[in-house]
Amino acid sequence: MELKIYKDKQEVAEQFSSFFADKVKSGELFHVALSGGSTPKIVFDVLAEKFGSSINWKQIHFYWGDERCVPPTDADSNFKMTVEHLLAKIDIPYENIHRIKGEDEPQKEALRYSEILAENLPAVDGMPQFDLVILGMGDDGHTASVFPHEIHLWHSEKSCEVAVHPGSGQKRVSITGKIINGAKEVAFLVTGAGKAPKVSEIINKTGDYENYPASLVNPKSKKLYWFLDEDAAANLS
Ligand code: 6PG
Repeated sequence: MELKIYKDKQEVAEQFSSFFADKVKSGELFHVALSGGSTPKIVFDVLAEKFGSSINWKQIHFYWGDERCVPPTDADSNFKMTVEHLLAKIDIPYENIHRIKGEDEPQKEALRYSEILAENLPAVDGMPQFDLVILGMGDDGHTASVFPHEIHLWHSEKSCEVAVHPGSGQKRVSITGKIINGAKEVAFLVTGAGKAPKVSEIINKTGDYENYPASLVNPKSKKLYWFLDEDAAANLS
């Protein structure tokens, strides 16, 4: 695990964008799972601005770690957010974008997306392997769309499961622990003071950390990077 602590969200976005650009400069095909929520917005804006014309997007395939079960035009859609902040600004082939279809029946879509991962990603130890999984973390310690009240979903034998947001009851399709921990590399992007308590508990393995899905992120490759701003890292010793 490598902690990368930066002044603020902007610097996290800049540093992660450089990290990403460095990862893809080999020109190899690159399969990446994107996170949703609000933090990625600035990250995607900076990535497009700084590297939009220098990265060969034709070698990159975008997937999502989770998606809300809403149409792609809905304000809640992670795909819509990604289009607005990144995809609309870069020259990436349509066939390189593998969205979770939030408008479809959740269980059917979870199964379909599991098949998409199996068909498109290289298999390592029988499992589809991402080159990079980007994750956020909620104030409650959830990651992707595995929430504490459904932490058992993390351990599913399936690659994708249907989750329910604890507050709104909104259904989500999410990749599971075996896909996340099977990735070559995993990068958390976590900013804001609201995250500080859980960041500290998870990294220091204190309090109720074992109840937080984000604490279960432990890639077999051991390549786990936490990109944090000072607010989110404030409680770290
Ligand atoms: C989602 C995300 C989710 C997100 C965290 C943090 O669909 O909402 O995938 O796991 O990363 O909730 O969200 P913020 O970046 O908005 O704090």
